[in-house]
Amino acid sequence: MIVFTLRKNIRNTVKKLKEAGKTIGFVPTMGALHPGHLALVKKSLEENHRTVVSIFVNPTQFDNPDDLAKYPRILERDLHLLEQTDKDLLVYLPLAEDLYEGNVKAKSFDHGGLDRVMEGAYRRGHFDGVATVVSLLFDAVQPHRAYFGEKDFQQLQIIRRLVESQNYPVDIRPVPIHREKDGLAMSSRNLRLTEPMRKEAPFIYQTLLKAKEMAEKGMKPDLIKENISLLYEKSPLRLEYFEIADEEHLRPAENFEPGKNYRAFIAAYAGDIRLIDNLRIK
Ligand code: PAF
Repeated sequence: MIVFTLRKNIRNTVKKLKEAGKTIGFVPTMGALHPGHLALVKKSLEENHRTVVSIFVNPTQFDNPDDLAKYPRILERDLHLLEQTDKDLLVYLPLAEDLYEGNVKAKSFDHGGLDRVMEGAYRRGHFDGVATVVSLLFDAVQPHRAYFGEKDFQQLQIIRRLVESQNYPVDIRPVPIHREKDGLAMSSRNLRLTEPMRKEAPFIYQTLLKAKEMAEKGMKPDLIKENISLLYEKSPLRLEYFEIADEEHLRPAENFEPGKNYRAFIAAYAGDIRLIDNLRIK
């Protein structure tokens, strides 16, 4: 496993590999790796000659300084996990100043309205921060394929749009959500849950399953939303939003139109930990 910190070094190494005819997969992460991340790495290893994994807690995508400060950072353990997964991985640990060329700020992007709902509405500037860092990372790594988890489904759609609008020659490969046995979506933030909150957190997935059941019985999105909100009133989790939207444009759904796929999206607080999840319901 080779570890890089400078943009020019990872870029040169990848350039040489590409000149030798190798395909490059890329898995961008913010570390605190869990089996969900490793599934992305494994998919990339299957589909490419070489895989680059980046670990960088990107400051420009946090709207809350406390959240940024408390984001789990366990680099030694992450590197050990990556080494065990594949000895040939290229690991990129960017330095903020070098990656951002001295200007650690988000640029503003036109996300075509995909950022107006859900995460975009509740975390101001979040997707500009994500799009900025993903552009910089793509520029540094120049991969053939990049792997993103469907747990951040809105992020995935925003990145697809970014790639299309900027003509990046990168194939975006989505990977399904990895869940704990009790249904809780795997997330680096789960590490911060207290024991009682960890026990409550699978309620989020249970409510997504309930929404799916209601949709399958023919209930309209608004009524499903009302029913799910009521369930949270009796739960120790604090619901921030529950939304039903079409997968392509992420527009809140009034009806389920035939031929379109719909997902339910949730953000809820377990104590002071914000968790998100989603499920295709129709
Ligand atoms: O999904 C994440 O971990 C981050 O948003 C990403 C894509 C690595 C950008 O910082």
